[in-house]
Amino acid sequence: MNQNQLKQAVAQAAIDRIVPHLEPSAVLGIGTGSTANFFIDLLAEYKDKFAAAVASSNASAERLRKHGIEVRDLNDVSEIGFYIDGADEADPNLALIKGGGAALTQEKIVAAVARTFICIADQSKQVQVLGKFPLPVEVIPLARNYVARELSKLGGRPVYRAGVVTDNGCHILDVHDLQIHDPVGLEQRINQITGVVTNGLFAMRRADVLLLGTETGVQTITRDSVLNP
Ligand code: A5P
Repeated sequence: MNQNQLKQAVAQAAIDRIVPHLEPSAVLGIGTGSTANFFIDLLAEYKDKFAAAVASSNASAERLRKHGIEVRDLNDVSEIGFYIDGADEADPNLALIKGGGAALTQEKIVAAVARTFICIADQSKQVQVLGKFPLPVEVIPLARNYVARELSKLGGRPVYRAGVVTDNGCHILDVHDLQIHDPVGLEQRINQITGVVTNGLFAMRRADVLLLGTETGVQTITRDSVLNP
């Protein structure tokens, strides 16, 4: 199977997992990226079984609306049962790197609200130690060079993602050459740098379930199975 077929398979597995739980008042959180897009396209068939979605990016909101799915502002929503999104890397404890599509801030906010975060990813995203994928950090434009110098002190090599402006009007630094053995500690440390909006480590609020597309089928890895193998 090629990578797109693996992404399609995990998107279908997420549909199979959530559809039995859909209710007419349910609001779903929807992520960003090519894997999330497969999920959105499959979700369209079930649009009459839930109320609306909250999107983590303008691009996903547009795709949802094209399918006739109502998109709500998160401020108008008090509860999200499921958040479904891809990842750039996932470690064995379901801590993630996200933000390759520059939507990390909204993704982190929607994930924070959701009761259950289902991460959907093909097997290329599975790593033992996070950091081979450069860690995206969203910054206030004025603070970009200051934040870059601070990130260098942490041992990384920040590179400005030139030409990219996030949905929040901010810039992205991609931090190369990190080996992240303490994802929670680094997430907190980077959050403390003045001018940082969000970093792409999803370790404090990690995935609850990882649906991983492999050549031999979709593997389900849950936080429970990590904590109680
Ligand atoms: C978007 O900002 C990212 O967090 C995506 O979830 C991540 O880049 C995965 O994207 P793909 O599904 O396209 O690989």
